[in-house]
Amino acid sequence: MAEKTTYDWNRGFTLDFSLLNGLSQKGASTKRKLSQMKGMYADSAAFDQAVAEGDPLVYEFYELGVPEHPGDLAFGTSITYSGKVGNEYYMTKGHFHTILETAEVYYTLSGEGFMLTENPEGDVILQPLYPGIAVYIPKRYAHRSINSGKTPLITFFAFRADAGHDYGTIETKGYRKLVVEGLDGKPRMIDNPRWA
Ligand code: NI
Repeated sequence: MAEKTTYDWNRGFTLDFSLLNGLSQKGASTKRKLSQMKGMYADSAAFDQAVAEGDPLVYEFYELGVPEHPGDLAFGTSITYSGKVGNEYYMTKGHFHTILETAEVYYTLSGEGFMLTENPEGDVILQPLYPGIAVYIPKRYAHRSINSGKTPLITFFAFRADAGHDYGTIETKGYRKLVVEGLDGKPRMIDNPRWA
């Protein structure tokens, strides 16, 4: 059974985020298998095949259950695993915040990849992620982690606790851009042929 930890949101607490002893070893994560991302990868034949051959775990994240109060901060870790669907790297679904005017910070603990962000007006920004790098995601931008490396991409995130998650917009419309492995083996950003 997962260890149940209580956090004192009123008087504070410390948490060990070392990768061996930290949050990712405690509590229950929210897991996303490939089959939960139907329609998000461009190569639907490769998608169907990978789901049929075992439906791999693509990513998971750990949250602490912070009360959804505007004065609190939600934080935790996100782990995106290494892999591809066709030539497209494993990624998170990505989301806007329900309160669109909410920024977020990600800090890379391990692995390498990208943070793909876009706002409703179509401005797209691709930021690199590697250990030591902090990314500031401005308010109004959807954000998706992409693992272009060979090891799990592990990030720490923090945002206003009542911001909420809007996954539906991305599930319906998709992102304007995708990040794939080019013929030279290097990551490149292309137009999403399915963008609605
Ligand atoms: Ni977010």
